[in-house]
Amino acid sequence: MKILAIETSCDETAIAILECEGDEKSARFTVLGNALFSQIEIHKEYGGVFPALAKREHAKNLVPILEAALEEAELLHEDTQAIPEEKHDRIATILSREPDLTEAFFDFTGECEPPLIDAIAVTAGPGLEPALWVGLNFAKALAILWGKPLISVNHMEGHLIAALAGRKHMPPQTDRSVFEISGVKMPVLALLISGGHTELVCMREWLTYELIGQTRDDAAGEAFDKVARMLELPYPGGPEISRLSEEARETQEKSPYTLPRPMLHDATCDFSFAGLKTSVLYLLRDNPSIREGDKKHIAREFEDAVADVLLGKTTRALDMTGAQTLVIGGGVSANTHIRRVFTKKIENEYPYVTLCISIGPLATDNAIMIALAGFYRALRDDFSTPDSITVNGNRSLA
Ligand code: KG4
Ligand code: ZN
Repeated sequence: MKILAIETSCDETAIAILECEGDEKSARFTVLGNALFSQIEIHKEYGGVFPALAKREHAKNLVPILEAALEEAELLHEDTQAIPEEKHDRIATILSREPDLTEAFFDFTGECEPPLIDAIAVTAGPGLEPALWVGLNFAKALAILWGKPLISVNHMEGHLIAALAGRKHMPPQTDRSVFEISGVKMPVLALLISGGHTELVCMREWLTYELIGQTRDDAAGEAFDKVARMLELPYPGGPEISRLSEEARETQEKSPYTLPRPMLHDATCDFSFAGLKTSVLYLLRDNPSIREGDKKHIAREFEDAVADVLLGKTTRALDMTGAQTLVIGGGVSANTHIRRVFTKKIENEYPYVTLCISIGPLATDNAIMIALAGFYRALRDDFSTPDSITVNGNRSLA
């Protein structure tokens, strides 16, 4: 089936169209179209994501992104469409808070044939509610116009399923990316680390989750972003800290700073990153002579502390759950050092565990992951209607 997926939970406006085949045990995905607009440059000025601005940017970009994705998928065929009045009014009501989006929506869809897709998957949470609503209303409007079913996707399920997907090597004559999910051994333990979430979740059967541990305060990505701001690095801080830390590692010098590993030795699988962040604040306050060149050592010690805690808690959860597969997903899984330490640990101490870390472009927010999770939902007939679907900014997996 062809799924058109929409992601607007944070600062990426993304739409992807995938051909999805197979079943839970062995699924294959061909990316037909994939368009993404990152708002990073816009939010940089504010040092973080500004929800009202994110919403406005999504509204501005959804139609051009849709057009780009359809075009790439060769599903864009010009034709004048007469929209029945009843449908027109229903859609106009749904999009009424976004007059510019409404106008762009009718201008675009009035000039193209309904594309040959089977369903529309959309992120319905967790995330920034104003941002989620724009994407969800847009999806509802398309579903009504084209008469397609909706699939409500949990953003974190998207990160998890995407991390399970491996890239399949295709013969050189095809330039489309193909991903496969097959032979997954249960139970799966997922470490989901993003800007808003840090959690350990166990999946013993497909799409059934048990929460094993979670952050009690800040998310790992949030800590990266906040510490980066203290070090006067641009938003988003994760990649910046990672870059600086790698520089420090190359020097082979021992870090002159020591930061705590919060909750590493307590008996739970929970995390806490707020104290670590505050320790960096105090370190900077108490050492006013810290120079530009010292920042990389602070970045490295911070990254080491986060990696140690993530690793310690995850191995505790592996022992507790007897998981056969470890999945690491979410934006922070793009971190070079974290990938390295987990790969080494699993190779050396858990050789029977299969490690799946999101491949590069699927680690941070994108719409491909929403299509992947959408397909797993569709396999269970988990469809929604424009009247039943809604947003939940705090939606959880378990
Ligand atoms: O999953 P994601 O793209 O969006 C959310 O769902 O939140 O994650 C974004 C987070 C940001 O906090 C960003 O700083 C962090 O992922 N991040 C990284 C790296 N790349 C992105 N953190 C550490 N190292 C990276 N290379
Ligand atoms: Zn995310």
